[in-house]
Amino acid sequence: MAEAKCTCSNPLVPGLVEVVNIIDETPDVKTFYVRKPEGGVPFNVRPGQLAMVSVLPTGEGMFSVSWQEENDHLEFAIRRVGLMTDELHSVEVGQKLGVRGPYGNGFPVEECKGQDMLFIAGGIGLAPLRSFIKYCFKHREDYGKITILYGCRSYADLCFKDEIFETWPQMKDTEVYITIDREEAGWEGHVGFVPAYLEEINPSPKGRVAVICGPPIMIKLGLKSLEKMGYTDQQVISTLEMRMKCGIGKCGRCNVGSEFICLDGPVFTLEQLKKLPPEW
Ligand code: FES
Repeated sequence: MAEAKCTCSNPLVPGLVEVVNIIDETPDVKTFYVRKPEGGVPFNVRPGQLAMVSVLPTGEGMFSVSWQEENDHLEFAIRRVGLMTDELHSVEVGQKLGVRGPYGNGFPVEECKGQDMLFIAGGIGLAPLRSFIKYCFKHREDYGKITILYGCRSYADLCFKDEIFETWPQMKDTEVYITIDREEAGWEGHVGFVPAYLEEINPSPKGRVAVICGPPIMIKLGLKSLEKMGYTDQQVISTLEMRMKCGIGKCGRCNVGSEFICLDGPVFTLEQLKKLPPEW
C-alpha cells in the first residue's frame, strides 16, 4: 500500500532560514540578511509586506521585509525594543531563524506607476518604505521623479547610511533630503523635524503620491503638512504595520473597530484610514 502523505500546510509553522550577513545600522538597529535553504520554497514578498521572524525557542515578532533580493534572500531591519529583539540582536551569522509569511497587502506598486513618488520616513519607519523605494529604482522607467525625505533624532540613528548618502542620491531623477532633530558636532546637513522640512521642500502634489511611515507624532504632523500642501486623501499612503501580531486574523491584536489591520492592510490610503474608527 502506498504511504499516505499529509499535503496540508500549517500557516503557523515557520520555515528555517540561515542568517548570512548582519549590518549594524545604528546603536539599536541591525539589518539581518537571511537565505532560504537550498531547495526551499522561494520567497515571494511584495514591497510593504511583513513576515514573522522567530528566534528558537525564545519567541517571534512581526517585522516588515525591508527588501527581497531575488527569491531566496530577505532583509529585515530590526530595532531592539524588548526581550525578543534583544535575543535577535545577539544572533550571529550562520545561525538559523524561523520565518513565516508574507503577511499584509503591501504597497500599491502597480497603481503608483507613472506617478512622481514622495517618500517621507522617520526613524525605523524607513525600513518598510525602503522596500518600495528599491522597487521603484529596480523598475525605474515605471515611475516619475523620486523624492525621499528621511529624518531621525541624530546622525547615529540614521539607518541605511550607504544608501541614503551615496547610492540613492545618484539615482536618476531622485532627490534625497536628510534631517536630524537637533544640532550636533560634525553635522552640516539640515536640522529640524520632518514635517517642517517637508513644508520647506514643498514638493508639488501634481501627479505625485506621498508614502509616509514613522513615529506616530511624525505621521500625525506629516499628514497635516501634506494636507496644507494640497495633497488629497487619495494621494497619501501609510502603513499601520506596528499593530500586527499574528498576521492571519487570529489573535485580535490588530483590530481597529471591526476591521483587522492584518487582513485589510496594513497599507491604507489616507482616504481609507479616515473611514476607520479614530483609534488608529
Ligand atoms: S495580527 Fe492577529 S488578528 Fe491581526
